[in-house]
Amino acid sequence: MNIAQLQQKITELKKENDVCILAHSYQAHEILEIADFTGDSYKLSVDASKVKNKNILMCGVRFMAETCKILSPDKRVYLAQPTAGCSMADQMNKQLISQVKTMYPDYAVVAYVNTTAELKTICDVCVTSSSAVKIVNNMEQKDILFIPDCNLGAFVAQQCPDKNIKLLNGGCPIHACVNTDDVKKAKAMHPNAELLVHPECTPDVVAMADYTGSTSGIMDYAVKSDKKEFIIGTEISIAEHLQYMCPDKDFYILSQKLICPNMKATTLPDVYNCLSGRGGEEILLDEQTITDAKKCIDEMIRLG
Ligand code: 13P
Ligand code: SF4
Repeated sequence: MNIAQLQQKITELKKENDVCILAHSYQAHEILEIADFTGDSYKLSVDASKVKNKNILMCGVRFMAETCKILSPDKRVYLAQPTAGCSMADQMNKQLISQVKTMYPDYAVVAYVNTTAELKTICDVCVTSSSAVKIVNNMEQKDILFIPDCNLGAFVAQQCPDKNIKLLNGGCPIHACVNTDDVKKAKAMHPNAELLVHPECTPDVVAMADYTGSTSGIMDYAVKSDKKEFIIGTEISIAEHLQYMCPDKDFYILSQKLICPNMKATTLPDVYNCLSGRGGEEILLDEQTITDAKKCIDEMIRLG
């Protein structure tokens, strides 16, 4: 089967089996083409809460599929590629954060959505990169423990000077490994380009950017801008998608280090295999975990 035939089979199978396919924007172009909804993690979590289908298939990473299950416990939720985890989400568990909470008993715990369902059960509010600043600003509490990403946390702290934000030493190893030398080299090669970066990058890289925002934020900015050239400081797939969307503009990758192996793990055959019952994994969470984790996701939707 060629790609178009495989996509046709997938489209037929998803109709037959009443499946809604969600794909994060870091997925490959041929996967975005067969998805019902695409976007950043915030948009996908809102879309997931509204879909009518009995089954949801997530093309992304495990915490995103868990978020769908928490928001739609009566639906069957599948992760197309079971090995697709998130290196940041795996850095901190419930046991560790329970201990940290005893050191900061009066702090509200704000969890980036890139955390496990189990860890979310002991957090107060969830945020995504596109909603973090607004949500933290809208919170009543002044003292905040922000986990796990210290780079996103530092970005939020800068934008919310009235809050007292404590950070832990976690983050995305992919975004965090880009440095100011990479930025200088890219700017020297493309002197007329604007630099757009994800807040998971380190503060010194963020300080050199013309715009900092979530995956969708970066895409919207580039699409609407009058400028013609952009250096993209997030997963390399975004530069590729933007090139499809805006053929009259030029998009350059900030660094070849910006490849997330977890996001790249899902293939079109994985989607086909999952829909035909020969692959993927159904996400199963116990009722208590769903109830407790849902509180902080509901808070995210309420405050965002
Ligand atoms: P977004 O919140 O921008 O979708 O980012 C998710 C992510 O994993 C970025 O690395
Ligand atoms: Fe996780 Fe980083 Fe990959 Fe995003 S890019 S899914 S934070 S490892």
